[in-house]
Amino acid sequence: MPSRDPGWVRDMHVAHYLQSWSTQGERPLVVAGGKGSWFWDTDGKRYLDFQSQLVNLSLGHQHPAIVAAIKAQADKLCYIGPSMGSDVRSELAALMHEITPGDLTSTFFTTGGAAANETAVRLARHYTGRHKIIARYRSYHGATGGALSLTGDPRHHLTRADMPGVVRMLDPYAYRPPTGHKNPADCPVCQGGPHLEEILMYEDPASVAAVILESVVGTNGLIVPPDGYMRSIRETCDKHGILLICDEVMSGFGRTGKWFACEHWEVTPDILTGAKGINSGYVPLGTMTVSEPIAKWLGSRGFPGGLTYAGHPLACASGVAAIRCMREENTLENATAMGEIMRDELETLAGRHPSIGDIRGLGLFNAIELVKNRDTREPLVPFAAKGEAAAPMRAMMKFAMDAGLYLSYFSNVIRLTPPLNITRDDLMTGLEILDRTLELADLEYSDTGS
Ligand SMILES: Cc1ncc(COP(=O)(O)O)c(C=O)c1O
Repeated sequence: MPSRDPGWVRDMHVAHYLQSWSTQGERPLVVAGGKGSWFWDTDGKRYLDFQSQLVNLSLGHQHPAIVAAIKAQADKLCYIGPSMGSDVRSELAALMHEITPGDLTSTFFTTGGAAANETAVRLARHYTGRHKIIARYRSYHGATGGALSLTGDPRHHLTRADMPGVVRMLDPYAYRPPTGHKNPADCPVCQGGPHLEEILMYEDPASVAAVILESVVGTNGLIVPPDGYMRSIRETCDKHGILLICDEVMSGFGRTGKWFACEHWEVTPDILTGAKGINSGYVPLGTMTVSEPIAKWLGSRGFPGGLTYAGHPLACASGVAAIRCMREENTLENATAMGEIMRDELETLAGRHPSIGDIRGLGLFNAIELVKNRDTREPLVPFAAKGEAAAPMRAMMKFAMDAGLYLSYFSNVIRLTPPLNITRDDLMTGLEILDRTLELADLEYSDTGS
């Protein structure tokens, strides 16, 4: 393809391309290339990717082993139907069995996270013969009809008519316990089981097929559950014959320093969904992995789902290469070590920036929550702020971008999710720009709140 003038790229983007989850018409940054934790625009200006694009570029831009695997597979066989045997498909399914915890054994491959969650819910209903699904408010599960109905953040209002049977529960948000308790240990929501039990009392446990949750909430503020939460939810599900679905689309594949975040609390779900970091997003790919009993049950009954591109060879080849790289390059260990350094440095930044209210995360899945006042914990901007209300956050993103750091935010939370193989030098470069960026947040701070 001829290389295009950046002005033409911007014009066509605005005229003919519909951009995800945003107002249209904004002229984009035109990216010319990327390598490792960096990408650059057509003027050669470089940006450090502290977001890993959509938290999927876990091995950074253009990892040579993944690129080579895609090229080799393209030369060999670009496509073969989902029911045919394929070496890369079987290889990735076997690898999924190796890296997922407990008795998770068999994987259905999809084209992304939404389709994985969609399929998981249909399967849970099929398996249990029940119809209700309990999902949380601060969640994002994808943009297809069912996945958006499961999603609790304001985007689910856009479905106009949600999938029936979704029941909400509150989130174990230790910095702001939803019940108003100061100490999360006193809060039934942060404990997990007590809150779920109360909901089940009203809903009738015999009507509930599954609880779906992000093991660590990603988009909606990076909420790490208190220790004990996941186990308590698991036990409550078991007591009532309800399946637990862990959505690890963002938190999985090493992001938290373990293959899957649920392993931090030694909890194995009945169904685990993934995508993003499995192959660093080089080719669309999602996963839905089920426990052995479910896999056996499906044997004689048939699987209630399918996709033309289930187990696409190019996607599977990239997944196999990425998982092998992560093993050979000790990527999970790097994520753990760099994550610890990052959180230590953020504590130092909190000494200089009063607007940092909370620092939280695991591995390289981290965030800072910004406040107008540390005592009142008033958020720097309101929940899901838009337009003028979100102006201080947008100003920070622009400042950072001008300084060469690509960041993202949701409400008053800045997510810090660089590639898992980031070097210490690059990490420190990003934190130095973040330090300067936070001076803008401090301008919104007041000793009394507003
Ligand atoms: C936790 C979680 N689940 C599901 C999805 C949807 O994945 P996809 O966009 O690949 O459909 C996302 C996307 O950000 C996510 O973060």
